[in-house]
Amino acid sequence: MKRPFAYIAGTGRGLPATVFTNADFATIGIETTDEWIVERTGIRQRHLAKTESATDLAAAAARESMTKAKVQPGEVELIVVGTASPDRLLPSAAVDLQAALGASRAAAFDVGAACSGFIYGCTVAEGLMASGGYETAIVVGVEKLSAITDWQDRATCVLFGDGAGAAVLKRTKHHKGILSTYVRSDGTLGDLLCRPAGGATTPFSADVLDARTQFIRMNGREVFKHAVRSMSDAATRALDAAKLTGTDIDLMIPHQANIRIIEATAKHANIPMEKVFVNVDRYGNTSAASIPIALDEALEMGKLREGSTALLVAFGAGFTWGAMVVRF
Ligand code: ACO
Repeated sequence: MKRPFAYIAGTGRGLPATVFTNADFATIGIETTDEWIVERTGIRQRHLAKTESATDLAAAAARESMTKAKVQPGEVELIVVGTASPDRLLPSAAVDLQAALGASRAAAFDVGAACSGFIYGCTVAEGLMASGGYETAIVVGVEKLSAITDWQDRATCVLFGDGAGAAVLKRTKHHKGILSTYVRSDGTLGDLLCRPAGGATTPFSADVLDARTQFIRMNGREVFKHAVRSMSDAATRALDAAKLTGTDIDLMIPHQANIRIIEATAKHANIPMEKVFVNVDRYGNTSAASIPIALDEALEMGKLREGSTALLVAFGAGFTWGAMVVRF
């Protein structure tokens, strides 16, 4: 069998109503400045879910993608959700989304690949569509990172935002669709970006809450170094697998973690910044949601049209990383 097996028939996004600017950190006693955050990360504001659940955000994104793809809930056969911040740990975010959508025929499950969740999710969905007879799938990246962020740690709380992005995948017999995917991981580096407690080994307790170890902990410098290296490698490998080079790409959509990581990755992939989609300034790092939110905006803005080729590249906790080449 030969690719493409699946194409992106519609995309959507769901963002919480509340916008929290860099200046707003002063209101919660965080010692930082707009200048420090913008210079180090490119982030100017993020959306925070004050009243919305992760399921609300995921459902908003999924519904929009289904409307654009002209897909009814009963036609959805597969729901794959990438998330590190589900509303609850059991059952999965995907089944909560299935219930919210009324997609009663769908198999639904989560993939745990942190910020690479959307690329992993598309890879898994595409594989199942190629081998398992599924015609229609929805892949969602959703995060309510504000719930697992330590709002007393200025090194991490300035980075993250909440939101969701979704894509409907349909089986294709044509030339458009997912041309290649590449995913990898290195679990020996898991401690560099993790939530130390709250899992089965160290369940929630008074000690955990005192030590605040249920929140995200990160070694920023190490993450930065590995992110650039791994995203560059993934971009090259996905391009090779699609028999393309950086010059064939109309738009690169990198995981929106940090403008400096994005610039360094684009340089390695030989893609000029004019062809790189950036919205980290408005949303911060929304982990698994960042690529599908950016993809939805890029399509809406006409940066991707019929015949355009996009390179999607991600990196996240695990570490996990991956890339995907898609023709529209
Ligand atoms: N405001 C002001 N000062 C701060 C802040 C802040 N928000 N945060 C840290 N500082 C201070 C530190 O306390 C430190 O002060 P000191 O020198 O007096 O001790 C100083 O700034 C430098 O701290 P570093 O952590 O060394 O800062 P660095 O230049 O490495 O930048 C950053 C930190 C922006 C997190 C950087 O390491 C980075 O971008 N890493 C990538 C991490 C990332 O994007 N993670 C996202 C999750 S993973 C993913 O999505 C790929």
